[in-house]
Formats: sequence, C-alpha cells, structure tokens
Amino acid sequence: MADRHVTYTSDNLTQAVIDRIRPDAAPRVKQVMEALIRHVHAFVREVELTPEEWEQGVAFVTELGKWCDDKRQEVILLSDILGVSMLVDAIAHRSHASVSETTVLGPFHRENPPRMTNGENLSRDVPGEPLEVEVKVCDEQGRPLEGAQVDAWHTSPEGFYDSQLGDAHSMRGRFVTGPDGVVAFHTVMPSSYPVPHDGPVGRVLSAMGRGPMRPTHVHFWIKMPGYRDLITHIFRDGDPYLHDDAVFGVKASLVTDWDLPKKEGKPAKLAYEFRIPKLDAD
Ligand SMILES: [Fe+2]
Repeated sequence: MADRHVTYTSDNLTQAVIDRIRPDAAPRVKQVMEALIRHVHAFVREVELTPEEWEQGVAFVTELGKWCDDKRQEVILLSDILGVSMLVDAIAHRSHASVSETTVLGPFHRENPPRMTNGENLSRDVPGEPLEVEVKVCDEQGRPLEGAQVDAWHTSPEGFYDSQLGDAHSMRGRFVTGPDGVVAFHTVMPSSYPVPHDGPVGRVLSAMGRGPMRPTHVHFWIKMPGYRDLITHIFRDGDPYLHDDAVFGVKASLVTDWDLPKKEGKPAKLAYEFRIPKLDAD
C-alpha cells in the first residue's frame, strides 16, 4: 500500500507545490506565485542551501523586520542594495526620451513635510555651503505645469537626513508650482553619505566587500493630477561615488553640474527642468 502515498523529493517537490495553487486563483496571483516558487526552489538547488544556512536566512529576515520602524526601513534598504528597487523602477518606466527619468524613493521620505513657498530656506538653521535650487515642472512638450506638488529633501553637509538627527523637520519641504511651473529655494550643500549600515543589511554589504556610499543628490517627488508621479533625484556632477552608488540609482540624465556659478563668485546652483507625461500617454 506504500504507493498510495507520495514521497516528495528534490526532483518532484517544486511541481507539487505549484500544483497546489487552486486553478481558480486570480491569474496574477497564480503567475507571481508560480514564478516565485520556481525561482526560490532553483536558488536552493543551485547553492545547495544547508539547514544551517536556512536557519541563518530565517534569522536574517526576522531581524530585518525588527529593525524597521517609522524612521528606518531595512527591507527597502535590502531591496535597494540588491538592485531590486531599480529593476522594478526600470521595468515600470521604460520611458521615452521626452520625459524625465526616475530613480529610487529611498527610505528617507517623510509624510507631511513642511509646506513652503518659493524663496524660503529649506535647510532652516542647518549651517553649510549655500546651494540655490530652481526646478521647473513641465509637460512632455515643455509647457509649464501649474499646481504640481513638489517634495524636496536632502542630507545635511555631514550626510545625515533630519530623521537621523531627531524629530524636527529640516532640509525638506513641500512646494506647489505657480503658472511658470517653477519651484525655487535656498538650502545648504548636501553630501555623499552611507546608507544605514549598522544593521543586517550593512552586514550583507560588508560580507560582499561592498561599500555603503551614495553620491550627493537632492530627492524630488512630483505629483500632478492627471500626470504620472515622478520620483527621482538630481545628482551633483564630480561626486566620487557616482560610479559606486550602493543602490545603483544613478542615471546619466540626472547628473548635473551644480558648481558652475561658483566660477563667477556666485553660490552653487542646482537647476533642472522636469518633464512628466500625462497618465494616459503610455
Ligand atoms: Fe538620498
């Protein structure tokens, strides 16, 4: 009677797990779960994962969750350093040349940043080298968009976001564009900085012999009714980490020279024209 019972082996287990998905499961659930099961099983087979390594993996994922709170997102960080966030971004935005490129959101955006108007000081009382920022939000044809919400945020000159320094908001703000599509503010020069590497993701980076640094940038998240959200950064040309970004977020079109005005004795300036597509433009 022994043949009444199935013995699962490394040869038949994968298909057996896939076959348990009910035929009436939602098609996307079926597609995603089948692929997930196939790829996870293939990974275990390829590396011949040992029981001890499986235990380490379970402990690692558990630890990831424990490091997360409203200021720290270790799971996004893992996705970022493995290039998964940028892969998802690349697939979602196989976009045409006429619109601005996207990059990772990163773990430091905060809900409800201070509301600001053009000409305000984003950095508040943080000292540092002055930086002028002037960006323009346009449609695909380059026509200015009025009423776009623009969140901007960046690090201190020492490379820390406000949330890493305390609860107060600084070096971040929310603007709304006027008829000319422009958002302009004063701030201080941000810095290249390490992604948080004192937790489990930091251990993965150092085990692979990789550094945690990200090149200097300012984050932007632009929302305009009827248009696609734009989540991106603008990077400072000349930064030594542009070719070694820990999260693979650099795109050539997002690197600009901020230091040109300094040759004429003026403060550094980040200027950029964002072009965002209409929601039905794809
Ligand atoms: Fe950042």
